[in-house]
Amino acid sequence: MIVSKRLITESNLAEFCTDGVLYVAKGQIVTPGARDKALHKGIQIIHGVAPKAAEPQPTGEPVVECDVAAEHAAVTTAIDDCAIARRLAQDSHMTFPKDMVLAQKSVMMPSINLLGPGCLEQAAKRVGAMGHRKGLIVTDAMLNKVGMVQQVVLVLEKYGIATEVYDGVQPNPSTANVNEGLLKLRKKNCDFVISLGGGSPHDCAKAIALLSSNGGTIADYEGVDKSTTPALPLVAINTTAGTASEMTRFCIITNEETKVKMAIVDPHVTPAISVNDPNLMLAMPASLTAATGMDALTHAIEAFVSTNANPFTDAMASKAIKMMVEFLPRAVEDGSDLEAREQMACAQFMAGVAFNNAGLGYVHAMAHQLGGMYGLPHGVCNAVLLPHVMAYNMHSRIKRMSDIARYMGCDVHGKEPQDAAIEGIKLVCRILTQVNMPTTLTELGVKAEDIPAMAANAMKDACALTNPTRGTQADIERIFQNAM
Ligand SMILES: NC(=O)c1ccc[n+]([C@@H]2O[C@H](COP(=O)([O-])OP(=O)(O)OC[C@H]3O[C@@H](n4cnc5c(N)ncnc54)[C@H](O)[C@@H]3O)[C@@H](O)[C@H]2O)c1
Ligand SMILES: [Fe+2]
Repeated sequence: MIVSKRLITESNLAEFCTDGVLYVAKGQIVTPGARDKALHKGIQIIHGVAPKAAEPQPTGEPVVECDVAAEHAAVTTAIDDCAIARRLAQDSHMTFPKDMVLAQKSVMMPSINLLGPGCLEQAAKRVGAMGHRKGLIVTDAMLNKVGMVQQVVLVLEKYGIATEVYDGVQPNPSTANVNEGLLKLRKKNCDFVISLGGGSPHDCAKAIALLSSNGGTIADYEGVDKSTTPALPLVAINTTAGTASEMTRFCIITNEETKVKMAIVDPHVTPAISVNDPNLMLAMPASLTAATGMDALTHAIEAFVSTNANPFTDAMASKAIKMMVEFLPRAVEDGSDLEAREQMACAQFMAGVAFNNAGLGYVHAMAHQLGGMYGLPHGVCNAVLLPHVMAYNMHSRIKRMSDIARYMGCDVHGKEPQDAAIEGIKLVCRILTQVNMPTTLTELGVKAEDIPAMAANAMKDACALTNPTRGTQADIERIFQNAM
């Protein structure tokens, strides 16, 4: 059997460690739980193979790099899905949900957005001018340990800003993380919030800032536009490319009791300033670059086919798709390629503008369930589901799906829209292989018996509202099964 990936989890972590070092080879994925466990045990994480003499002999299945066979398997699965979608399109429930199309459009994003190498310094200068005294830096332990927090503290000090640090944010941040951070904000009398990191610190910081002015618990604000009072000002410094959470009105927090990721969609959680300095993204390992990049590509594609898409969001999404297809493989191949990092930082921001205003779809509604249930990395979940949901949605948005193929650079000249759309799905599968992403949920340890509950919760997720095809729970279960 060909194993195209090897997932490093909390339970098999020891197999991959040698002398207190976890070596992560190309194509391997470390789950957030395993990363946390390594961190707590003082295990150093190195991306690359172990030195020859100390090379570990992992038990179990050997790691085999993605190969042509795996790629073909993924493409075949997507094409099979297209056939399924074609049949399903004849069902009456597969109609375009016209009642969800809004007549009026709004464009929401932070009022100040800083992009490009070195813009961190500019951000500190602006914060200094805002008149705040003390900021709570909300981040994770890893970024504190590698010195990125200290780098930000020093830049802010130059402009007279004092800081306190809450570094307890976990990937897929939980209600407990929000409560701990809020306690620290109040104890230390901070008058604004700074998030430093990827989507997890941004979302946790958004929740802290919202609760500090509105009160209650974060579950009270699950859904759309539930708060009444603006949040404490938030400056979001981004280190992944990415979720675009540094600029969105979305805040995703895991309810620890139900294992469900709650979506808080509210303009009040929009940061005051977003910062995308690609210098802070250079240290991202290849697997994180790939996972977060696939999240961004999913944002652009879901926004482009969303029921709320409009000319403004189309412009952002289509350009972002073009940029990401060119620069994501480059950034994965060579993390020190500053041009690729800069283009990806910009493209993920544009994809964020698109989905912040157009909404998302079933990929995100379903990925949230995988993140909540198994703690899997958000970008990896999206990556595996994306071709399957594209195939499912194809017949509701055939022209737009063929446009996506064209933006991605597929040769669609003279092709029927359906054939062009299939070319686009095939290319997404090839990109997944190229950037060493898993191609099945089975590889991620997802269990078939959990599918019905996850499908039921996906139907209730706020992101499902703007999916172009209105499906039933059985449809969503089938998409999950196709991705196994
Ligand atoms: N609010 C939104 O609009 C929105 C949109 C999409 C996803 N999300 C949420 O974002 C979360 C995922 O965020 P993410 O994918 O950015 O990952 P993350 O923030 O969970 O970070 C993952 C890991 O990457 C490390 N890391 C971050 N930056 C790094 C850097 N520059 N160099 C090296 N390591 C670095 C972190 O320490 C962490 O261990 C999920 O909870 C997801 O639901 C939110
Ligand atoms: Fe996302």
